[in-house]
Amino acid sequence: MRNALFALLFCLTPLHAAELTLELPGGTRTLDTAALLSHPKAQDVTIPDDVSYKKTMRYRAVPVAVLLEGVKPDEHLQAVALDGFAAELPAAPLLNHKGARAWLAIEDPARPWPALAKGKPSAGPFYLVWTDPKAARIGPEQWPFQVARIRHLPSVAERFPALLPAADTSAEVRAGFVQFQKNCLACHRLNGAGDAQFGPDLNIPYNPTEYLAGDFLPRYIRDPQSLRRWPQGKMPGFSKEAISDEELGQLIGYLRHMAGRKVAP
Ligand code: HEC
Repeated sequence: MRNALFALLFCLTPLHAAELTLELPGGTRTLDTAALLSHPKAQDVTIPDDVSYKKTMRYRAVPVAVLLEGVKPDEHLQAVALDGFAAELPAAPLLNHKGARAWLAIEDPARPWPALAKGKPSAGPFYLVWTDPKAARIGPEQWPFQVARIRHLPSVAERFPALLPAADTSAEVRAGFVQFQKNCLACHRLNGAGDAQFGPDLNIPYNPTEYLAGDFLPRYIRDPQSLRRWPQGKMPGFSKEAISDEELGQLIGYLRHMAGRKVAP
């Protein structure tokens, strides 16, 4: 009887109150949905071109900057999603108070958000969205959804030296490394280095610059399904707004350079 009652109560609760863990220089703390919804800085924001929902969305949200006590602009953060997706986020744009501004959107269990796709969960419980993202060229991989943790970490270069280009390499290759961190590292490892588990390693055993002839690699990055088509393909295409032609050239320059710097697995 008691069990049946518990089961009933359980079914009536629309969503579990979720928790966001913040691992910051001053220590780790956890905030739940209710605390975030009633945060003094919480407000309604309108996001005209929502990257995940591809339409205008309205959210109850807290400016990310107010949650990042003690974090400095030249430092580094990682947003970890429920499924292990790890977005690498330089701190500077997250701390902005004007121009492109980052917001932590909070899903209210009483008013759940739509599913991201048929049969899939929503972008909640927490979703990092931007107002005026173009002002700082914020890319689609900087909109992590289903966020569970925000961690203060050493930079990608310090954590994963196997990703580093040679010290004496060109400015172009170095710029390509920045593009790789911004757009690819959330899903791909390279030389076995990185936290992602989602897509294949981009250097081991082979680097795509070694086996994709002609312009197939840039075409694949722009529109993966234009080269390999199947319904479950998970890699998103990158438009010229996300990665300009010049940046795409730099990114491929970095990948080609790394083909000569393989690390034994
Ligand atoms: C949201 C996750 C995600 C992001 C971001 C992403 N990829 Fe992928 N990528 C995948 C997955 C998953 C696959 C495997 C094919 C599939 O399911 O689409 C893949 C496949 C690939 C392949 C094909 C490998 C092969 O031989 O078939 C290449 C090349 C590639 N990605 C390069 C990149 C580059 C370069 C970037 C950054 C501009 C990038 N990817 C960003 C998820 C991602």
